[in-house]
Amino acid sequence: MTNLTRRNWLRTSAFAAGSLVTGLSVLDKPAFGMTPFKGSYALREDFYSPVANEIKARLSANENPWGPSKKAVAAIAESAAKGNRYVYNSSREMEELLAKKEGVTPDHILLSAGSTDILEKIAFALCMKGGNVVSADPSYLSLVRTAQSIGATWKNIPLTSDYAHDMDAMANAIDGDTKIVYICNPNNPTGTLTPVDKIKRFCKQVSGKVPVFIDEAYLELLDEADSQTAVGLISDGHDVIVCRTFSKIHGMAGLRVGYMVANPERIKAIKKLVRTEMGLCVTSLQGALASLADTEFQKFTRENNKINREFTFKALQKAGVSPIPSHTNFILFPIQMKPKEFLDKMAEKGVSVRGFEIAGKSYGRVSIGTMDEMKLFVSTFNAVI
Ligand SMILES: Cc1ncc(COP(=O)(O)O)c(C=O)c1O
Repeated sequence: MTNLTRRNWLRTSAFAAGSLVTGLSVLDKPAFGMTPFKGSYALREDFYSPVANEIKARLSANENPWGPSKKAVAAIAESAAKGNRYVYNSSREMEELLAKKEGVTPDHILLSAGSTDILEKIAFALCMKGGNVVSADPSYLSLVRTAQSIGATWKNIPLTSDYAHDMDAMANAIDGDTKIVYICNPNNPTGTLTPVDKIKRFCKQVSGKVPVFIDEAYLELLDEADSQTAVGLISDGHDVIVCRTFSKIHGMAGLRVGYMVANPERIKAIKKLVRTEMGLCVTSLQGALASLADTEFQKFTRENNKINREFTFKALQKAGVSPIPSHTNFILFPIQMKPKEFLDKMAEKGVSVRGFEIAGKSYGRVSIGTMDEMKLFVSTFNAVI
């Protein structure tokens, strides 16, 4: 699929989703000095920057501007000569390491080419005969969109007024046709965190009826990642799937490594359907193994992301907008013009960002880059608004 067709497809499915959903709870209290999302269908459409020739700061895809780690790059170069072999040895080593890291046995780990691979395959495995997916709105829609494209519907539950998942409303939305609940924590595109104790309570309540998928793509950017992960639910026997990626904290978005942790029955069900291992490449896996060991690089990313995020947050406030406090490597903020106009004006000056229309209001989303990139973003933003 070309970029343009993909964009059209995304738009069409976003609009299709709008007509499918039924009215659910609405938000009424303002938070952080800005108007919360209102209405039964919040995330109406999202917008991508035009492909401008002269992009100087690419701040549209929540990539890590410092990655990959030098140790990962060296391991990738060295392993290129092993490219004649399938990945079996590296994948076993990786599964064992990840199992140790997550406190489970290797049969609880499924490797994949980025976490998108898992989001899509879970949607195929569980929604092939239709049904519905319950998730927050606005949230990351990869799993939902795949599920919709094969006949499932989306039960979208607006975030609470402080942009957390509304766990009670999500529990109430589950019915006999629900195939999976999707939780993105921290959430994209809001950057907000739902406290893990609330998620754990929810999972204990509902996972006997329906599996809960927790997308922790941005979790490792938190200082307190170990205490905010829901992965412990899996070794306690709950039907929960936790998904992680090497695209964010490890800065390996273009190298495509991700994994899920789940009970062995869930992993077997996916393996029966597809061979995710065949989508992996030995160079990326060797790079990921080196990156996993490079805790200094991860610390560097975490610290600099936080510094640059705080700088950008304050600059946005100074410019008179009310950004949503973020726990991730991006910030969502309201804008006073149509998202497309905003993106075009920013791109014209060499800065690519993302735009969203949520509950009839326009928002921009900027990913955290290097300090030079953030300074360019701020000066461009001030010139454009
Ligand atoms: C919440 C979330 N999950 C998953 C992904 C997909 O990442 P990848 O396929 O690179 O692992 C993204 C990408 O931005 C994301 O924001």
